[in-house]
Amino acid sequence: MGRFIVCDHPLIQHKMTFLRDKNTDTKQFRELVDELATMMAYEVTKDIPLEKIRVQTPVAEAEGFVVGRMLGLVPILRAGLGMVDGMLKLLPSAKVGHIGMYRDPETLQPVEYYFSLPSDVTERELIVLDPMLATGGSANAAIASLKARSCRPTKLVCLIAAPEGVKAVQEAHPDIDIYVAALDRHLNGHGYIVPGLGDAGDRLYGTK
Ligand code: URA
Repeated sequence: MGRFIVCDHPLIQHKMTFLRDKNTDTKQFRELVDELATMMAYEVTKDIPLEKIRVQTPVAEAEGFVVGRMLGLVPILRAGLGMVDGMLKLLPSAKVGHIGMYRDPETLQPVEYYFSLPSDVTERELIVLDPMLATGGSANAAIASLKARSCRPTKLVCLIAAPEGVKAVQEAHPDIDIYVAALDRHLNGHGYIVPGLGDAGDRLYGTK
């Protein structure tokens, strides 16, 4: 079973509180998602392998370490886009793919409408980004789509998860580690996370 990690650093909890607040405007909301993504990147890369190198200080030779793994970020459109720049601040060499998903209003199943990946994607470990893990439908479909193309998704990073979504991803993709900033109570009848923060895409882009 993949790991389920709640990144509950005090600064993350502080920023999450303002992210949830319905009085937080679009500009602040976008800035908070960006900052939270940067803080999550720190947690998500905690286990990343290092390669030893030697450098010359002004005084002597020293042993050092550099990140030894090629990474890729794959935001699920559109809300996942809000997390990309924040992650890239700590992972500037990561390349970025995109997966577009919408929910079919009749079947309620996720439908892929856009897919684009970096050319060297199979050499990279992929981190899938989606701020809200609700039913897990989009995340599961995105991860399955990456695996079907011989890619290597290893981590899913969300800001808020419902227990239903966590369970769905763990069952469908037990090899994936899930990182969240908060685990909320449940989904309501409209598929919103409670208490959640509303529609992350609408709040990021000022749409309704
Ligand atoms: N997507 C959102 O943006 N918010 C939710 O609460 C659930 C899914």
